[in-house]
Amino acid sequence: MKTTTKIALTSVGLLLATTLSQAAATASASDNWDNNCTKCHGADGKGLTPVGKKLQLKDYTDAKVQAALKDEDIVKAITDGVKDKDGKERMKSFKADLSDAEIKDLVAYVRKFKPKA
Ligand code: HEC
Repeated sequence: MKTTTKIALTSVGLLLATTLSQAAATASASDNWDNNCTKCHGADGKGLTPVGKKLQLKDYTDAKVQAALKDEDIVKAITDGVKDKDGKERMKSFKADLSDAEIKDLVAYVRKFKPKA
């Protein structure tokens, strides 16, 4: 058990190191999601991580949530971040970390959580 935890933590560390060293290079949407978004939105997009629950994130596997979300909203959230009505940051801007192409790929990635009809 302990060893598994250690290995898991080491892999997270390695992933982070890789991300930092490749900040300028284009990464795949799944890598970008894993490295930048899962902390809050969860690997499954349900937003059920400890942070996600606290922030009351939307569930991207919910068809209603997907239907209410426009592609432009997704681009805007990733590019500019999300603030609450008092202007307090809820999600940071990823403009400095991700290229336009990477953000576009992430939109498609977020759409993949949509349940298949
Ligand atoms: C610090 C936690 C956090 C991280 C990290 C984070 N988000 Fe968010 N995200 C939020 C919060 C808070 C909201 C606003 C509540 C909501 O819409 O569920 C949000 C909203 C969104 C929205 C919906 C915007 C809308 O108009 O409804 C999208 C899409 C999104 N995030 C995508 C991403 C992507 C892609 C990443 C990674 C590049 C990411 N988020 C990283 C916290 C986070």
